[in-house]
Amino acid sequence: MERTVDLRESWAIGPVEIPTRLVLAPMAGVSVQAFRRQGRRFGAGLVCSEMVSVAGIQHRNERTLGYLRVAADEHPLAIQIFGSDPGVMAEAARMVEAAGADLVDINFGCPVRKVTKTGAGASLLEDPDHACRIVEAVSSSVNVPLSVKMRRGVENGSRTCLEVGPRLVEAGAASLTLHPRSARQMYTGEADHSLTAELVELVDVPVIASGDVTSRARAQAVLATTGAEAVMVGRAAQGNPWALAEILGEASGEPGREEVVAELLLFIRETVRELGEHRASGFLKKFYGWYLGRGRFPKPFKQELVQLGSIAEVETRLLAAAPGAHAVLARLEGELPEVDEILLDQLPISVYGGG
Ligand SMILES: Cc1cc2nc3c(=O)[nH]c(=O)nc-3n(C[C@H](O)[C@H](O)[C@H](O)COP(=O)(O)O)c2cc1C
Repeated sequence: MERTVDLRESWAIGPVEIPTRLVLAPMAGVSVQAFRRQGRRFGAGLVCSEMVSVAGIQHRNERTLGYLRVAADEHPLAIQIFGSDPGVMAEAARMVEAAGADLVDINFGCPVRKVTKTGAGASLLEDPDHACRIVEAVSSSVNVPLSVKMRRGVENGSRTCLEVGPRLVEAGAASLTLHPRSARQMYTGEADHSLTAELVELVDVPVIASGDVTSRARAQAVLATTGAEAVMVGRAAQGNPWALAEILGEASGEPGREEVVAELLLFIRETVRELGEHRASGFLKKFYGWYLGRGRFPKPFKQELVQLGSIAEVETRLLAAAPGAHAVLARLEGELPEVDEILLDQLPISVYGGG
C-alpha cells in the first residue's frame, strides 16, 4: 500500500527542525528575501536563497554580499553557494554561516554554460572526486549542516546522481536535493522521480524531491512513490504563493483579486526596500505577469503595468484595479515583523536557470 504523507509534519536535517515537508526552491533572479519570507508565510518549511557566487563572496562584492542578508522571519533558511575551489567554497560557507543561515547548500545542478564552464554547478557531477573534496572542505569548516542540490547528471538519461549522491553523503552532506532532469535538458521534458526513489534507497540522509511539483496531488504522489522526506516547489510558486498553501492542504480556492493585488503590492514594497527602486523596477516586471496571469486579470492590464515608468505609478494602477486591496495590504503589513532597511544600488549577478 502506498504511504500517505502528511505535508504538515515536521522533519529535520541534522539539528535543523523543518516544520513542513514543503521546501521553496532556490531560483536565481527570483528568490529574493521578499519571496522567501512570503514562502514561509504560506507554509514552506524551508526556504533557500538563490545561488550565490563564492568568488563574489571572496572579493566582498557588494551585490553578492547583499544575498547574504537574512531576516528574522526566514528561518529555517538555506543559503546556496556555487563555485569550484574547495578552499574558497569553505571560506564562503563560513561567511554564510556567520550571516545566519541554518544550512549551507551547494549547487551541483546549475546547467547554465556561464557557470559550468568555470567547473561549477552541474559540471561537478562529472568529477565526483572533486565534488567530494568540496563537500569535505565545506562540511568540516562550518557547524551548520551542509546540503547538496543536484541534477540527475549532465547527459540525457544519465544516472550519475546515483553514483555521486552516496559519495557526497560519505563526504559530509547531511541532505540531498535531486532535480532529476539532466543538465542538457535544462527545463524541458519531465523530472524522472523514479531516480529520486532509487536515491532514497541508497542514502541514509533526507532526500528532497525537486521538479514538476505543482499541486497537492502531485506532491503527495511524489512523496508516496519516492520515500523522499520533502518536496521542493519552484516555478509553481512564482507569483503564486497560494500554490504552497494548496499543496499543504490549506488553501480555500483561487485567491480573490484584492488578495492577489495586496500580495503583489507587499512584494513590490519589500523588494524595493531590499534592492532599491532602480534595481527593483526591472526585477519586478516578470512578477507582474506571474501574479496577474493565470486568468486573474486581462492580459492588457499586465502589459500596461510593465510599461509604466515608476513603482508609484504601478502601485496606483494596481490599487485602482482592486481598491479593496488597500485594507488587505494594511493587514498584511501590520502582521509582518520589522526588517533592517538596507539598500543596495547595483544589479545582482543573476544567472537564469541555476539548477
Ligand atoms: C528561474 C529559475 C532559476 C533557478 N535558479 C536555481 C538556483 O539558483 N539554484 C538551484 O539549485 N536551482 C535553481 N533552479 C532550479 C529549481 O530550484 C528547481 O530545481 C527546478 O526549477 C525544478 O523545480 P520546479 O519544476 O518546481 O520548478 C532554478 C529554476 C528556475 C526556473
